[in-house]
Amino acid sequence: MRNFTFRNPVRIIFGKGTIAKLGPEAARSGRRALLVYGRESIKKNGVYDKVALSLSESGVTVVEHPGVRPNPVLSHAREGVRKALDSACDIVIAAGGGSSIDEAKAIAAGAAYRGDLWDLFSGKAAVKEALPIFTVLTLPATGSEMNQGCVITNDETRQKFSTASPSLFPRVSILDPETTLTLPAAQTANGAVDALAHLSEGYFTTSDRDATVTDEVVHALARSVIAATERILSDPRDYGARASMMWSATLSLNGLQSLGYGGISFPSHAIEHSLSALYDIAHGAGLSVIMPAWFKYHLEHDGPERLEKFGKAVFGTGNAEGTIGALEEWFRRIGSPVRLSEAGVPASDIPRISGNAMGLIKLWGMDYDRAAVEDILGRAV
Ligand code: NZQ
Ligand code: ZN
Repeated sequence: MRNFTFRNPVRIIFGKGTIAKLGPEAARSGRRALLVYGRESIKKNGVYDKVALSLSESGVTVVEHPGVRPNPVLSHAREGVRKALDSACDIVIAAGGGSSIDEAKAIAAGAAYRGDLWDLFSGKAAVKEALPIFTVLTLPATGSEMNQGCVITNDETRQKFSTASPSLFPRVSILDPETTLTLPAAQTANGAVDALAHLSEGYFTTSDRDATVTDEVVHALARSVIAATERILSDPRDYGARASMMWSATLSLNGLQSLGYGGISFPSHAIEHSLSALYDIAHGAGLSVIMPAWFKYHLEHDGPERLEKFGKAVFGTGNAEGTIGALEEWFRRIGSPVRLSEAGVPASDIPRISGNAMGLIKLWGMDYDRAAVEDILGRAV
């Protein structure tokens, strides 16, 4: 087990009826909030009204920034920075899924940075400070509500890059599982795939294979995500399953999932980001295509040990090939694509995708050349 330092300062308020606590929490940090949200879900399911009521009762005024797209884009985040500065907002609140949260983080950082917002994603500058961030999560998937990461797509260059900084940890995240009762099955599946990807990236790329406690955390969370997803898909009104899914997904990328591993990387994410950047597909749908292909590559290059351990603990499978097969079968069962064609991506585009992916691979300092990326993509045809 490698040395590590762990700190996660996010205050989580979890459970039914907890959105009412947003206002008092936000009012401790500011009086004027930029409220960042997506297109329609929070207006349809009542989250917007609860957020607005809690903030107004606490004396926090709101400047609205609606229209965040899934796979949020730089141009819209830049608009948000302008609004936040013009209206002298002193806090940023996201209500929605990972896209709204990530755009809120980008705006919070951009409002405290004098240069161009993209500098913070392209590696030109680091995020040093940000306005205080608050979130009301409505889609369990990304873990953004309890981590310091943020992903934005540059809609001019089609680069989907990320940044990370301790100042991007939200101050408070409200996790009310009832907000997720309106999620369509496809979004539930996307979230499940994403959480499993977050658990597996570190597990399979660790340079230290004797961090047993973290391995067991990963196994338990993976089993929990799978079990909750199956319950939700058979009964979308199952509150217990929604609650379990929400907390499992948060725990799957809040740092705990890779403590002591050392030297980890995010290869499936690095390649997937090009799929969602170029074709605007859901991040989870892109991951269910890339992950099995990457596992096949991993088996050839790193051997069966990790796949055997993971498969035995999570699926009850006996060998590495069986683990990959079980994962693919599960993705198919929940309706997620496992081949490029099933995600609407032509195999003839592999060179275009690999060219795009090399940008992020270099930025993340990963040891993959273009031929390796094309080898992996070729296994997803
Ligand atoms: O736009 P609205 O109308 O709100 O609808 C959204 C959106 O269409 C809908 N939705 C959200 N909550 C709902 C709901 N519909 C009904 N009921 C609800 N309760 O779901 C759609 C997808 O939302 P989105 O926020 O895009 O999904 P997700 O949470 O999966 O976020 C994906 C983004 O996060 C990034 C991804 O790359 C992608 O850009 N990631 C962020 C990470 C991070 N910051 O740590 C890590 C991840 O690996 C990931 O890269
Ligand atoms: Zn992800």
